[in-house]
Amino acid sequence: MINGSQTNSIIIFGASGDLTHRKLVPALFRLFVLNRLPPNFHVIGFARRPYTHEEFRALFTDAVHALPDYDETAWADFSGRVWYSRGDLGTRIDYDTLQSFLYGIERGQANRLYYLATSPEYYDDVLNNISGAGLAAEEDGWRRVIVEKPFGKDRASASALNTTIHNAFDEHQVYRIDHYLGKETVQNILYFRFANTIFEPVWNRNYVDHVQITVAEDVDVGHRAGYYDGAGVMRDMFQNHLLQLLSLVAMEPPVSFDADTLRNEKVKVLSAIRTVSIHDTVRAQYDGYPETTGVAPNSMTPTYAALKLYIDNWRWQDVPFYLRSGKALKRKTSEIAIQFRRPPHLFMNMTRGKTLDPNLLSMCIQPDEGIHLRFETKMPGAPDIHPMDMEFHYREGYKETALPEAYERLLLDALQGDAALFTREDEIDLSWKLVDYILSGWESPSAPPLCLYPRGSWGPQEADILLFQDGRGWRLGCGGHDE
Ligand code: BG6
Repeated sequence: MINGSQTNSIIIFGASGDLTHRKLVPALFRLFVLNRLPPNFHVIGFARRPYTHEEFRALFTDAVHALPDYDETAWADFSGRVWYSRGDLGTRIDYDTLQSFLYGIERGQANRLYYLATSPEYYDDVLNNISGAGLAAEEDGWRRVIVEKPFGKDRASASALNTTIHNAFDEHQVYRIDHYLGKETVQNILYFRFANTIFEPVWNRNYVDHVQITVAEDVDVGHRAGYYDGAGVMRDMFQNHLLQLLSLVAMEPPVSFDADTLRNEKVKVLSAIRTVSIHDTVRAQYDGYPETTGVAPNSMTPTYAALKLYIDNWRWQDVPFYLRSGKALKRKTSEIAIQFRRPPHLFMNMTRGKTLDPNLLSMCIQPDEGIHLRFETKMPGAPDIHPMDMEFHYREGYKETALPEAYERLLLDALQGDAALFTREDEIDLSWKLVDYILSGWESPSAPPLCLYPRGSWGPQEADILLFQDGRGWRLGCGGHDE
């Protein structure tokens, strides 16, 4: 828990960047408005540009004005605790200057949360300099570090980054962020599964036919082409967000919400994933992607991928998990759909040609957050069956209670020392192992080729075939509607 009397400093490296501007400072300000930050805190930006404190504070005016509960007095109060320390990420002496500046505003014992919001090529510099300047030493308060994604670009670089981190910090001080874990609806997967008794008994191979995890985006790579072209959808989305969703859906019940207990269960899922057949993968690129500024001509970077995998354990043996994600798709939708098996025998008459829609549980992560349960009903006045949905929508169920931003929850958890919603070293390693395997498989001559898909579609036909050949089909996003 946060000790109310102690000073807490939140130091953001890469403070002039987009993330600080769009997410971090607005999230901290919201926490402040909600009275959830400790009473004594400072937010210190560290970056190269020569801002004064006032100029730095002014950078956030637009973003905080756009917040639904913006309050001028609160902002004046909050921004008075926002500071700027100019420095070059690679220059050691600038970290000494930062240290002196921190001593000056903290005036005594203080806890410090460091946030690596720089581009990843600076992580080594920042970590080495933090360590060299003695900024990580827990002599007069705790020291923690939040590391943004991408966490490495493959298994080897992730491991090297972990080594650099551990030269400065112990694992208990490290918070690797995956903002999907901060989403309320993602945390709700655990609440839904384990705070109810009626779903868990059917949450296994005896009742589940297959699981689909979709994270579709309607936006294209936009101005992030420079980063994205070197990453592609496997590194950008699968290594982190999709595999995290998978592990929450598939994990065994943890005995407590304690960070390591929870993460142990996720690790068991990741380590039980059967080697993926490269022929159970699809990679694709949206039309026109190579013409994007910042993308290499003839780029082979996939902006879409779909795959089938299995988890070799008692709960999930031989249940296919289909995962897909892509950019420039028909609409933004993130959904986990659990399709249950068909009833073993149907005794009722149905109009010829009518087929049964098996029970389906859809967890809509975003947008229109909620849960749908599909079941068959008798059509009035006819012997036929017809599917209907039981629906829960956050916006109706919780009315004006807004869903907090992922970064609010995660920043607060890091300040409180709760790492449950952050990824551990071994989770990262196992995720990269899977992603590396697929990426290197795609290099082989027998690998499925890179396909194309039209912008605004649901992806390439080959992804439909992946399911069709198993007698299945993709859902059309949350709620299953394609409007
Ligand atoms: C980021 C990826 O981690 O997640 C982006 O780098 C992607 O490419 C984003 O657009 C999606 O996040 P959200 O919260 O909008 O689903």
